Amino acid sequence: MSETPQTPPQTPQQPSQQAPQTARGPADAETAPYSGAAADRAAEFTPRRVRTVHLRRFKEAGERFAMLTAYDATMAGIFDRAGVEVLLVGDSAANVMMGRSTTLSMTVEEMLVYSRSVVAGAERALVIADVPFGSYEASPQQAVETGVRLMKEGGVHAVKVEGGAAMAGHVRAMVAAGIPVMAHIGFTPQSEHALGGYRVQGRGEAGERLLADARALEEAGAFSVLMEMVPADVAAEVDAGLAVPTVGIGAGSGTTGQVLVWQDMLGLTAGRKPRFVREYADLRSTVAEAVGAYREDVRTGRFPAEEHSFDD
Ligand code: KIV
Repeated sequence: MSETPQTPPQTPQQPSQQAPQTARGPADAETAPYSGAAADRAAEFTPRRVRTVHLRRFKEAGERFAMLTAYDATMAGIFDRAGVEVLLVGDSAANVMMGRSTTLSMTVEEMLVYSRSVVAGAERALVIADVPFGSYEASPQQAVETGVRLMKEGGVHAVKVEGGAAMAGHVRAMVAAGIPVMAHIGFTPQSEHALGGYRVQGRGEAGERLLADARALEEAGAFSVLMEMVPADVAAEVDAGLAVPTVGIGAGSGTTGQVLVWQDMLGLTAGRKPRFVREYADLRSTVAEAVGAYREDVRTGRFPAEEHSFDD
């Protein structure tokens, strides 16, 4: 516990104490969304800016951290102020933001737009961007070039690279160039077609390969290893076998951190949800009801009312 990140002394000028921004400027302090327990949790475990070293200390202290996807400044700001330690600008944006059926078409240019938006909204969280399919596999040099763009033009603090031991050389080159890398193993959506669809990875003997992949990536310098759709006991074994923290999605409770796609977690996604998702809200219904009420008010003339109108 002694290694748990310390909260630095706060002054009124520090961003974490400033009034939150609305779309048009500072919000009324009384309506600040980050008060109470969420703010306490954020302050207790993280410094002003969460860094990769703090994630490592979470693991050493036996603590867990939360990671959530984000694609825009507004939601990033809300998640940040709720105390989420890591924001992932996932290439899942291809699915949940752009309505595409896979992540494969995501471009670096598109990732840069989402990255800048999230960075603009996050004062405290570590922001990680996915390295898009086709922008790194060809060579370690290509991986370095894309990683540099994401950090330099996108402003993110680290990147995430899909792939096992075959990507160790790429990760090594990126780390040597000063790019912090989170490795992503198990089910890797960019390899959806190669893997034969969305299926659990690492069952049976493949569990050994997963551990070997994780070790190779740690040895190459990855600061964390994310596992997607992996049996819980295998993921726990990988976490126990590594010094670096792990993150899980559909990988049970034995990883250091957990990640979810925010639209899944807040109940905005339509249709069947994956087994590993817990819905903490039903935003789809909330939004549909609110928009329906707005439409009805417009049609019946109840909106705008006098208080929404200007005098001459
Ligand atoms: O793109 C993404 O959102 C991800 C998470 C599902 C881990 O890679």
